[in-house]
Amino acid sequence: MKFFVDTADTAAIRELAATGLLDGVTTNPSLVARAGRDFFEILKEICDVVPGPVSAEVAATDFDGMLREAERLRKVADNIAIKVPLIVDGLKACKRLTDEGAMVNVTLCFSAAQALLAAKAGASFISPFIGRHDDVGQDGMALIADIRQIYDNYHFDTEILVASVRHPMHVVEAAKIGADVCTIPPDVLKKLFNHPLTEKGLEAFLADWKKTGQTIR
Ligand code: G3P
Repeated sequence: MKFFVDTADTAAIRELAATGLLDGVTTNPSLVARAGRDFFEILKEICDVVPGPVSAEVAATDFDGMLREAERLRKVADNIAIKVPLIVDGLKACKRLTDEGAMVNVTLCFSAAQALLAAKAGASFISPFIGRHDDVGQDGMALIADIRQIYDNYHFDTEILVASVRHPMHVVEAAKIGADVCTIPPDVLKKLFNHPLTEKGLEAFLADWKKTGQTIR
């Protein structure tokens, strides 16, 4: 499973990229607003640090406007993936952009039917928002399983990019289902490393090692 980080905070991206475990980045208008900086500056900085796909979302909601914005965004770097909303014009733009060889991430997916349409439109990534499903009392992970089954039935190349991830178990469950990518907020990604028994075990090993009086050289 590929790990993307879901943030426009470039300091957090640098820190996580240094682990060597980061495969890409997703941003969205809310994350850019939270970062409080120029969108293009942020994107350039991210693309310099992370060679994998970096999702940049259009703000237009009409086909022509999306294509215009996509053209600007694609000039930032080769690894920009254009993010379009799952609306009719978004899928039309997806088809056109992927036909032209662009990477496209179709976002705001909340149903298997929408995911099927995105795959037919040639999307590189489909982003189902599982946390927002859970928030309204629905089962976000069931949607991932449904999309996995549909994509496997027809051998679609579209990668399932699990979005709106809220906790480590979302990542684990998505991996069990066989989702291709998880985009994970920095705080959740950091939690994946931790287990109290790892810390406790390491403390004990280090204390015992000290008792041996040896060094490794
Ligand atoms: O990037 C889109 C998605 O991950 C948003 O997550 O937490 O705002 O539902 P959230």
